Amino acid sequence: MRYVYLSINVFTLTCESLRRKMPSSIIMVATERRAKSAGNGSQSKSPELLSRERREVRKLGTLLEISRVLADTSNLKTAFAATLEALGRHHGMLRSFVMLLDSESEKIRIEASYGLNQSSAHRVTYRVGEGVIGRVVQSGKPVIVPQTSREPLLLNRLRSHEEHITQKEVSFICVPIVIAGKAVGVLGADRLYKQERDFDRTAKFLGVVAGMMAQALKVRQGIEAEKKRLLDENIHLKQELRERYDFGHIVGSSNPMRLVYEQVTQVARTNTTVLLRGESGTGKEMIAHAIHYNSLRAGKPFVKISCAALPTTLIESELFGYEKGAFTGAQTRKKGRFELADGGTLFLDEIGDLELTTQVKLLRVLQEREFERLGGVDTIKVNVRFIVATNKDLEEAIKRSQFREDLYYRLNVFTIFMPPLRERKPDVLLLAEHFVEKFEREHGKNIKRISTPAIDMLTSYHWPGNVRELENVIERAVLICDSSVIHGHHLPPSLQTAEGSDTVTHLSLTAAMENYERDLIQDALKTSRGNRARAAKLLHTTERIIGYKVKKYKIRCDRFR
Ligand SMILES: Nc1ncnc2c1ncn2[C@@H]1O[C@H](COP(=O)(O)OP(=O)(O)OP(=O)(O)O)[C@@H](O)[C@H]1O
Ligand SMILES: [Mg+2]
Repeated sequence: MRYVYLSINVFTLTCESLRRKMPSSIIMVATERRAKSAGNGSQSKSPELLSRERREVRKLGTLLEISRVLADTSNLKTAFAATLEALGRHHGMLRSFVMLLDSESEKIRIEASYGLNQSSAHRVTYRVGEGVIGRVVQSGKPVIVPQTSREPLLLNRLRSHEEHITQKEVSFICVPIVIAGKAVGVLGADRLYKQERDFDRTAKFLGVVAGMMAQALKVRQGIEAEKKRLLDENIHLKQELRERYDFGHIVGSSNPMRLVYEQVTQVARTNTTVLLRGESGTGKEMIAHAIHYNSLRAGKPFVKISCAALPTTLIESELFGYEKGAFTGAQTRKKGRFELADGGTLFLDEIGDLELTTQVKLLRVLQEREFERLGGVDTIKVNVRFIVATNKDLEEAIKRSQFREDLYYRLNVFTIFMPPLRERKPDVLLLAEHFVEKFEREHGKNIKRISTPAIDMLTSYHWPGNVRELENVIERAVLICDSSVIHGHHLPPSLQTAEGSDTVTHLSLTAAMENYERDLIQDALKTSRGNRARAAKLLHTTERIIGYKVKKYKIRCDRFR
């Protein structure tokens, strides 16, 4: 009766633990079994059967405990040690260990142990095929040594000298840890020797534990592979960013741009606050990146915030972050951009749009390099380099009391003026070719060049939207271009009108056709170096027609010689 009672108790315990972890169907099966064993009268069972049943239940409990422990794949060493300890506690394993194969050195090393001298055990290694452990890894099959004293293959490196003398006879069971059909390690355990012991059952039980360990290892390997992939990707992306914002990728060789490069070189390696001014689309953000990636902070974050893009209420929580409960909806603490940029650069774009109240707070950060999160009392210190940009007339904003004068003086330490594109005409063609190359690649086109009339149109336009407008114009041209040359008619109407007196604001069909025809003829003449007969051949027409059109469109053939 007593055995039955114990058995039921153990089972109840197991069911309770199971109830927390497993679906209800499994618990039902267990309950049924319990009911059966209670109802059917355990008196009919032999003590041997009862003891076996008890052992099985104990194994089940251990497996449940181990599965929980191994679920923590963040620290497998600790999880393996806890597993071995559970085996020792519940199943009389005197000593046990997990050894894993190091794929680089091809050596089998201790990962976790129980009942062994830790420091000496950690020095022990086996080669694949060496001793019992090496053979288990090599063959992927379990080995049972009923009496260790009688097994010459057992190298016993893990046991100390004293153990050999004082020890009673023990049995050693070693099972492989297998992932994808390949042994990656072993689980080994010593038990006191008993002649009647069912070694097969013990090996099977340890096999199940080793299977669970393999699963945990596999998950960790997956996590580590993903971590490595993300790390590699991160390094690659950082490198790409660095290259993209390298000076080499900023196009322009006009004098005003040379001055910009000089200023960037002067200021990049300092911690000075930089104010970038210039019309929209002149490349202020690009220069901000260039300053960061050419500074000593290049390996640290470049954090951008656009003061115009967010409403005032949001901008402060974005800049300073907030504490949990600072306002409705602040459910957790959030770091602000100042903190995120620590060690790196913070780029405050459109600074001219900042509200006066936020300007006061920003002034303090600029002066003291410290602030408090919204709803917080702790003062946070940051090491941030500031780059700010605006296309607004700040002096005018000060006069109208829209911008604080003290903040202006704080920001106006080193100012770089970005020249408008109309003041650097020589750069237009360079930029146009740079963008043709960029978009040709992006859109999978094959564009060789820009036709002379199209170049003329690009250079005579006044570019109110600066480089950004030029970039958009070229992208559109690349998209609609059906040959390998960008012609005038691929450019938008705003450029057509500016081109010359013979175009109209709203192009008629005839005018558009004439534009196209003139482009084609000029292009053919360029290829034939002004030779009308060869140009006619290229266009599958006669020299007479070419002569007539040249006259009509007032094309100067000598220009192409
Ligand atoms: N010198 C340059 N070489 C190559 N690309 C450039 C250059 N200048 C600007 N660009 C490109 O032009 C676009 C506009 O540049 P950017 O965003 O830096 O301008 P911005 O001055 O910050 O404009 P906004 O004031 O409107 O924010 C970007 O796509 C940028 O890559
Ligand atoms: Mg910008």
